[in-house]
Amino acid sequence: MERQTEETIEAELTGLREQYRDLGIFGLERIIAQRAAEEKHLASIYLLIDKRGVPIAGNLPAWPTDVETVSNRFRFSLDLPGSSGPRRFLGRSVELDQGFLLVARDIEDKLRTQTLLVNAIALGSGLMLVFGVIGGFVMSRWMLTRIESINRATGQIMAGDLGRRIAVDGSGDEFDELATNLNAMLERIERLLAGMREVTDNIAHDLRTPLTRLRSRLEVALMKDIDPSRTRQLLEETASDAEGLIATFNALMNIARAEAGEQRASWELVDLGELVQDIFDLYEPLAEERDIGLALENAAGITVAGNRQMLAQALANLTDNAIKYTPEGGHVTLAAAQTREQARRIARITVSDDGPGIPPEMRQKALERFVRLEPERHTPGNGLGLSLVSAVAKLHDARLELADNEPGLRVSLVFERPVETAPPGA
Ligand SMILES: Nc1ncnc2c1ncn2[C@@H]1O[C@H](COP(=O)(O)OP(=O)(O)OP(=O)(O)O)[C@@H](O)[C@H]1O
Ligand SMILES: [Mg+2]
Repeated sequence: MERQTEETIEAELTGLREQYRDLGIFGLERIIAQRAAEEKHLASIYLLIDKRGVPIAGNLPAWPTDVETVSNRFRFSLDLPGSSGPRRFLGRSVELDQGFLLVARDIEDKLRTQTLLVNAIALGSGLMLVFGVIGGFVMSRWMLTRIESINRATGQIMAGDLGRRIAVDGSGDEFDELATNLNAMLERIERLLAGMREVTDNIAHDLRTPLTRLRSRLEVALMKDIDPSRTRQLLEETASDAEGLIATFNALMNIARAEAGEQRASWELVDLGELVQDIFDLYEPLAEERDIGLALENAAGITVAGNRQMLAQALANLTDNAIKYTPEGGHVTLAAAQTREQARRIARITVSDDGPGIPPEMRQKALERFVRLEPERHTPGNGLGLSLVSAVAKLHDARLELADNEPGLRVSLVFERPVETAPPGA
């Protein structure tokens, strides 16, 4: 703004100098007098003096004193009538042949604005600094407190308090999200640990009986005066016990493998129709032997992504159960079908029988490891068949449904996302 004022003064001076050159000192005197008369509020100051310092024309009685010169412009203050306090001016002068000419502008308002601005900026920066420091301090204290509480909780968890959880304050911020995620992780770890503990307990419990039996049989066989044919029978029974143990271990391993989900990398496209056909062929002789009518309902071209061997094992377990628990003369149906459910294509494999079925309140329980429902205690088995089916279903994101077949049991594996394949004959 000051430079702008300077430029207008410079331009005015140049103009006046030209007038002086053209019209002489009297012409200039007239122009100055005229301009000075127009300046009622003395916003601009004009003064023409002669070489002796006597004023010739202008709105200032005398050349200002107390002039502060910076290069060729200068500043001075004047006490003007009607204004409160002195007002500051910025001016320039030129030397003429017959005197000196001064042109100045009132820059008091501009200077006041400048002071105001400087003060405001200084105050603003100061406040900003103070609030910034306070804010930063509060913020870091708050963050450290939150981290500290997470640290404390994890410390206690590591010290063995596995049921402890990190506090969530419900604000939904990043710390809350972190706490929620950590809690979810802990939840999962705890559940896995509980599952592992359950398995070990089950193994310890369910294998102790056959192992004890095996040992007592061997002890009897080792007794001195025992009939050799009896020994042979005992050894045969022992061998079959050992076989049962191996089968149990294999089933457990399969369940563990399905639950770990490690097979996903080696997944392939499995044709459910083919799978059901294979299991049908495999179990037909057994069904015939037990006088059970085994039927097949098969739709072609239903494909899902999965582990073929595991799916086959699951289907075999279901078929084995159906044949095992259905009384002679019963019926078992294996089916692969493609249906729609809420406008979505789903695939399902179903094993249904007309045996005793499982009462609704026992269905969840029957899926657990080593669980055999009471009436079946006399049939061979160790209660792992449905556990494997359940684990395989989970691995394949499939739904396992146990329903009443009126009479009997109907078990379905429902795949929500079958693989789109070309319809047969397309
Ligand atoms: N089709 C069925 N009809 C009636 N009850 C069944 C049927 N399938 C399973 N169950 C009941 O559910 C229980 C659990 O079945 P699961 O297949 O897990 O074990 P299991 O058949 O006893 O032994 P495993 O399959 O390990 O040889 C069975 O003991 C039986 O009581
Ligand atoms: Mg079974």
